[in-house]
Amino acid sequence: MRVLMLAAENAALNGAKVGGMADVLRDLPLALQPHGVAVDMIMPDYGFLAREQQAEFVCDFVVPFDSGHYPLKLYRLPNPLLPDVWIYLLAHEMFVSPGHVIYTQDGPGRPFATDASKFALFCTAVATLLCGGLLPLPERLHLHDWHCGFFSMLRAFEPAYVKLQQIPTVLSIHNLAMQGIRPLTGDISSLQSWFPAMTAMGVKALAPAIDPRYPDCVNPLRAAINLSDAVHLVSPGYAEEVLQSSRPADGFFGGEGLELDLQRLRRCKKLFGILNGCDYSTASPEVSRTQMRQQLNPLAYQALLSKLGYSEFVNSSEMIAQIRLAQHESPQDFLLTSVGRLTDQKMLILRQPWQGGLVLDAILQRLASWNTSARFWLLGSGDAALAREFSEVAARHHNFLFINGYHEQLSSALYHCGDLFLMPSSFEPCGISQMLALKAGQPCLVHGVGGLKDTVEDGHNGFVFHGANLQQQSGALLQTLERALTLFGTSHWQQLVSAAHASRFEWHTSAREYVDKLYSSAN
Ligand code: GLC
Repeated sequence: MRVLMLAAENAALNGAKVGGMADVLRDLPLALQPHGVAVDMIMPDYGFLAREQQAEFVCDFVVPFDSGHYPLKLYRLPNPLLPDVWIYLLAHEMFVSPGHVIYTQDGPGRPFATDASKFALFCTAVATLLCGGLLPLPERLHLHDWHCGFFSMLRAFEPAYVKLQQIPTVLSIHNLAMQGIRPLTGDISSLQSWFPAMTAMGVKALAPAIDPRYPDCVNPLRAAINLSDAVHLVSPGYAEEVLQSSRPADGFFGGEGLELDLQRLRRCKKLFGILNGCDYSTASPEVSRTQMRQQLNPLAYQALLSKLGYSEFVNSSEMIAQIRLAQHESPQDFLLTSVGRLTDQKMLILRQPWQGGLVLDAILQRLASWNTSARFWLLGSGDAALAREFSEVAARHHNFLFINGYHEQLSSALYHCGDLFLMPSSFEPCGISQMLALKAGQPCLVHGVGGLKDTVEDGHNGFVFHGANLQQQSGALLQTLERALTLFGTSHWQQLVSAAHASRFEWHTSAREYVDKLYSSAN
């Protein structure tokens, strides 16, 4: 079976990763191959991928879009990890954001404006290539996240692309919080600008793609959910949670307005939860844990320097991190670690108020009173306001090192030589960091939601906390940390480490479910 995947990211290509979705796109083709599925991929080149990967130029072609004709270029390269399938790259200046990045952060008044236009053009280009015979028609089309939602709309609503209805189409939802919602009219980034004829069909005809909360807006994620033949979420736990409405004030994040659509799919047996896998093929590092511990400070300096090299000014977070590094040797004792994007999805609980400070302050105070040499190292980049808040905390606590950045080697070192990995996400569709920490033999302390509750078992390979609202979740996190600190150094702890090491979330198993549940139910 030949499948064509449309996605915004792919970690098989340098520079084409932002989050965990990219890892999935890297790993899936390899996992599906033994099941007789050949996966080609198509994505924008963002102005640099085709050149940097030395992709082969295939052709120029013209895409009807925005009442005009947009000239695009098609490139391709064999998948670097699996040479008998292709990665296609599409080039147009609309796909380019300054500074080699994939996504653009528009101001709060116009969320998704730049990216929605970018992906509306991308989807139209893929539809044009397939219907114009420039790309072979696959047996399944596989969409990922909101970025591909406009493709579903073209397939369902535009007569020029009716041929696409012959091909069963499935959707993977990696994150329901991002829906790509834009107005129907009245903006250069609106449905009317991209697809005037489709917009003229009216909201009744377009009902499956209209946002349930904002009736004058198109919701591409909703479109992909309602117009695909099968849909899956990236863990069984998350697939249950999204059937309920979100209650943000209580710290519960479920269907994000799309719960009724998801419930309907579930009743029609078209909704699945399939856990992402983790790659266990790479050898563990040759240096010992003790040696790696010694390298932590130099690695952290490297992470700071590589960030400073790109910036014109020194940020206070880098200054504080530098002071903390100069104060202490590499951590020798208990090391709490965390690697994750600075977003409320991952960090909301750490930011909750707790006894005059934040939950994060309380964690650091507790660590310090338990053992003065215990440390907490947190590596992450993302939201600027969150980074500010964490820098303030770092200024208050000598035992906290906050590195505001992304550094492959440092994160890998933290997975390998941390004692306890903290992942208190408020929701987690699947999560890869906890799997990587477990793989390296590091027990995890997690919030029992989504993929976290499917991968970490309390008392077996880590610790799991729950709470009915943000206050309870905060208290439960602190109590669970307490429980963990009491066990540290005991034989039970050794068992946790061994169980973490032995935990397996094999792509092979998940790939079988893709074939059995997703691709076959889309028949
Ligand atoms: C998103 C989710 C994460 C998931 C990843 C891959 O980044 O937030 O939980 O692991 O997608 O599916």
